[in-house]
Amino acid sequence: MRVLSVFLLAGLALAQGPAYKETATTHDLMDGLVRPMQMAIVNAAKEAPADDRAWRGIVTNAIMLQESAQLLKTTGRAKDQGDWIKDADALGDAGAAVQKAAQAKDFDALKTASASIGASCQGCHRAYRPPAAQKKQ
Ligand code: HEC
Repeated sequence: MRVLSVFLLAGLALAQGPAYKETATTHDLMDGLVRPMQMAIVNAAKEAPADDRAWRGIVTNAIMLQESAQLLKTTGRAKDQGDWIKDADALGDAGAAVQKAAQAKDFDALKTASASIGASCQGCHRAYRPPAAQKKQ
């Protein structure tokens, strides 16, 4: 029985894969990834991207924005499993809309998608960002 438990535990550990170590705090993710990606996208959407390289850059930034939304959902960062997850998913969806528009090289869709990112930031900040930090942005 004991041996079986050891096997079961080992199987569980394998199924989970190597432990994921969170290095960045939510604050770090905001400063290092979320905000820079949003700013880059919003700036890029001010005028029609000049060439394929510029469009590709927006696609990459939109992918990073989506990845940052995933990173916000890890166990150490998620404040709960309800609204926090929904708010993070809203950020991911906003990033996905930007990616789609940039892949289609559709400037009008890019402008719309880029303008809608801010609502996903505010949705989460209203509920979860400490009041002292609210003033900064
Ligand atoms: C799922 C929740 C969530 C989403 C979505 C989110 N944030 Fe945040 N953000 C937070 C929390 C929580 C803090 C406070 C972190 C702290 O200081 O501990 C914060 C803090 C910040 C800060 C302050 C960091 C500093 O230097 O004081 C900035 C800037 C920021 N967010 C930008 C953004 C932008 C831009 C977006 C959207 C593109 C966004 N955030 C989306 C939760 C979120």
